[in-house]
Amino acid sequence: MTKRRQRIRAAGLSGLVLAGLTLAGCGVDAREGRPLTTLDPQGSQSGQIQNLVKPVFIVAGIVFVLVEGLIVWFMWRYRRRKDDVDGVDEPVQIHGNSKAEWAWTIGPAILLAVLAVGNVTTIWALERDQRNAKMEVEVIGQQWWWEFRYDNNADGRPDIITAQQMVIPAGTTVRVRIRSNDVIHSFWIPALNGKKDAVPGREHAIAIQADKPGIYEGQCTEYCGLSHGYMRMQVKALSEADYAVWVANQVKPAVEPIQGTEAAEGRVLFQQRCMSCHQINGYNGKGELTTDAVQPDPDYLGAKHPLTAGNAPNLTHLMSRERFAGNMFDLYTNEDTAGAATPTGTPNAGLLGNWLRNPDLMKPMAADQNRGMPNLKLTEDEIRKLVAYITLLK
Ligand code: CUA
Repeated sequence: MTKRRQRIRAAGLSGLVLAGLTLAGCGVDAREGRPLTTLDPQGSQSGQIQNLVKPVFIVAGIVFVLVEGLIVWFMWRYRRRKDDVDGVDEPVQIHGNSKAEWAWTIGPAILLAVLAVGNVTTIWALERDQRNAKMEVEVIGQQWWWEFRYDNNADGRPDIITAQQMVIPAGTTVRVRIRSNDVIHSFWIPALNGKKDAVPGREHAIAIQADKPGIYEGQCTEYCGLSHGYMRMQVKALSEADYAVWVANQVKPAVEPIQGTEAAEGRVLFQQRCMSCHQINGYNGKGELTTDAVQPDPDYLGAKHPLTAGNAPNLTHLMSRERFAGNMFDLYTNEDTAGAATPTGTPNAGLLGNWLRNPDLMKPMAADQNRGMPNLKLTEDEIRKLVAYITLLK
């Protein structure tokens, strides 16, 4: 192949790649099947970010086309020809031309300064939203799931503790106070706001607001160990009325199984085997009844006690959620009621049983280092009874 042909082929290939990228860029606009897209904002904060992205993208696009176009044109215009003689047919050198150098220094500087104004004002606006938010939810990253705490009566102690799914009223701006109980995680609900790291020993706050009721998917976006990729979460936005129904159910004590049933035996097993990590409101970490309704050990954060009640999801109202284990697996076999105040349907007893039988098979764990759900080597009889109990916890 001659050099000329090689050059033509290279130029053709670059053109194809560019065209492909452009087409891909046009195709990512729809949310269908891509729940983690940032290009389809569903709330005020993500909308503000989108309003910044558009002009920045247009300016960057113009600069890209201009620069790439010039590069291609210069490559063509000043290509080496067959009869070129070294040192004779060189293009005119303009090194030291201060006019040109000033122009290409000041031009981009002005452009970046203009973009910075948009950037900084958006950051300030998002910060104002966060400070002026009407309600607050504490978010705690844990290996490998998210906990959400609500302090409705503002007495400094949470009265709702839930996991996997953060429930908010649609249309209300919520301050999300993000912390971590172990390593660095990152909280990200792309339809509602940007990413924010959950860092041990620090608290970072952002605002989120969903325009309409619905489910907004999220994913931990900071590598946090084995099951980082299995650390998802959701925001479920409900209408004001549905949200009130949800709150009223969450502050109720756990459902009591009927005496003499398998579920009642399951509860005894749960007290013995599960309550050193998982919490049911009304019981302390030893599985004993306590008068402290929600949180027997408010100081557990900071890994003072690496494995103690509260370091695994609070299961008091497990079945009011839609998924379990880092929002990975469906709690119900049907999804008809997804997004409702209270999901209904047939509990996914088979999947919950598998989880109890061998959690490591469904999600990688490091239970020997107190990370994730251990395999408790439960018997089939125990698994059946435990599932009968936890599927009651609506
Ligand atoms: Cu948590 Cu990645």
